[in-house]
Amino acid sequence: MTRPVTLRVNGRAHVLEIEPQTPLLFILRNDLALNGPKYGCGLGECGACTVLIDGMTARSCCLPAALAEDREVTTLEGLGNMEAPSAVQAAFIAEQGAQCGYCLNGMIIAVTALLRRDPHPDETAMREALRYNLCRCGAHVEIMRAAMRAAAPL
Ligand code: FES
Repeated sequence: MTRPVTLRVNGRAHVLEIEPQTPLLFILRNDLALNGPKYGCGLGECGACTVLIDGMTARSCCLPAALAEDREVTTLEGLGNMEAPSAVQAAFIAEQGAQCGYCLNGMIIAVTALLRRDPHPDETAMREALRYNLCRCGAHVEIMRAAMRAAAPL
């Protein structure tokens, strides 16, 4: 049964008449046209759908939308844009830290979350932060280079 759910996404409040158990990812992509978060495994395992909720990473593919009510959801779009990318987005662009790019949403969100709690992580901490974000292309070397550039901008 549907009911109104208030979601605060990228600083804007949205009141949506939805089935509360609908995965947050579907609401973000289908109702709010925020296509940064991607559908990968749908099981909480790959990280393609990662968003920030109150600054913490969350897998939006298996999170009922109603559980994000009254919390601050940030998607890739909320970090920056083509004209004004965030420092992490700029680092990934500079290092061309991707191949197909499908995993990048999760990588950038995970790096952003780490840098907010630890502005100067070492490589071990960065690897740990990205440990559960999968890249099927095998672009891990470029991704790590971009992530460490974000941690120590030139
Ligand atoms: Fe959500 Fe894979 S799509 S973790």
